[in-house]
Amino acid sequence: MIEVRPVATVDTEAMRAWYDVVLAAEAGRPLPAWPSFETAMRVWSVERDDLQDRFLVAELDGVPVGAGRLTLHLRDNTHLAVLKVFVDPPRRRGGVGTALLAALEELAAAHGRGTLLTEVTHPPGQPGAGAAFAAARGYAVAGREVLKAADLTTTADRWPGLAERAAARSEDYRLVWWTDTTPEEHLDSLAHLFSRFLDEIPLGDVDVRPQAWDADRVREGEERRRRSGIRPLTVAAVAPDGSLAGYTTLVVHAGDTHAGIESTLVLPEHRGHSLGLAMKVLLHQQLVDLVPEATLVVTGNAGVNRWMNAVNADLGYRDLEECLEVQKLLDPTPGGTP
Ligand SMILES: CC(C)(COP(=O)(O)OP(=O)(O)OC[C@H]1O[C@@H](n2cnc3c(N)ncnc32)[C@H](O)[C@@H]1OP(=O)(O)O)[C@@H](O)C(=O)NCCC(=O)NCCS
Repeated sequence: MIEVRPVATVDTEAMRAWYDVVLAAEAGRPLPAWPSFETAMRVWSVERDDLQDRFLVAELDGVPVGAGRLTLHLRDNTHLAVLKVFVDPPRRRGGVGTALLAALEELAAAHGRGTLLTEVTHPPGQPGAGAAFAAARGYAVAGREVLKAADLTTTADRWPGLAERAAARSEDYRLVWWTDTTPEEHLDSLAHLFSRFLDEIPLGDVDVRPQAWDADRVREGEERRRRSGIRPLTVAAVAPDGSLAGYTTLVVHAGDTHAGIESTLVLPEHRGHSLGLAMKVLLHQQLVDLVPEATLVVTGNAGVNRWMNAVNADLGYRDLEECLEVQKLLDPTPGGTP
């Protein structure tokens, strides 16, 4: 019999069983998608008031065979629930995924969330179990991304030429970079860029809405990362008037040998100066200096994002997986708690 129950993050043993199911379900992926258990637990143990994770385990005759996670945004995007479902490969096609998804959807509805969003990945051109499962459970494709990676040990020789090419078109701008703490002089400007980000990227039909950032929210995020053991690196382009024209940022989780790009943006009024390329080259160069053990950088971009894809191709990124953003709309439950 399949039984689905919640797992508390303070229950380390149950969380480890949950995580083992996730790792088994994700073992076939070409990307290093999950950090070590200890690192993940450190991240989840930091209290947040902007985001909440709920964990569910599915047991078959008492043995954990499925893992589910529900992520709720608490400050903005309160219409949304982000779901994940993982099933141990030998236990698939037995209804475990369906049971977990139903429990997650129920939880989302109880919190008044009307938009359910998840993502499924597969090798380029080869949709697999995730896509079939999503379609069978009524989730429609709302966006398409390609996940890609650059191996810094084989692509670093490209950087000097690319930096020179970009510099020729961005003479009026200067690049700055920092790790944990945004310099005070750029704080408001960075918050403005973060607030613009979701407006500026091609989201397709994905129902994610812009976030409102201010200096305090940026500082809160920095403090949370410090406590989570996450090492961030940001490069920004400063316009002649001193404001930030764009930024790119990555993070390295404790113990990982890869970095993940979080976001990159150049404001529309500053485009056409190769700032995206200039910032990304410096980001990769600084990563090598600061975290030499991180030799791989992973990123994801919408297939239709031609400008960002061209920059990444110049930097030697290779396509590894396709990622479908799949979405289902529920009728919100009146009286649900946000
Ligand atoms: C996707 C996943 C969760 C499905 O788990 P599962 O326990 O096999 O799912 P179910 O048995 O409940 O399948 C329900 C329906 O989905 C469809 N489906 C699931 N896997 C399928 C596959 N490999 N091929 C075709 N259809 C499939 C079928 O319609 C199936 O019903 P059926 O078996 O009666 O034909 C599992 O394959 C997995 O963990 N994949 C990796 C992570 C992932 O992609 N998660 C999904 C989004 S978060």
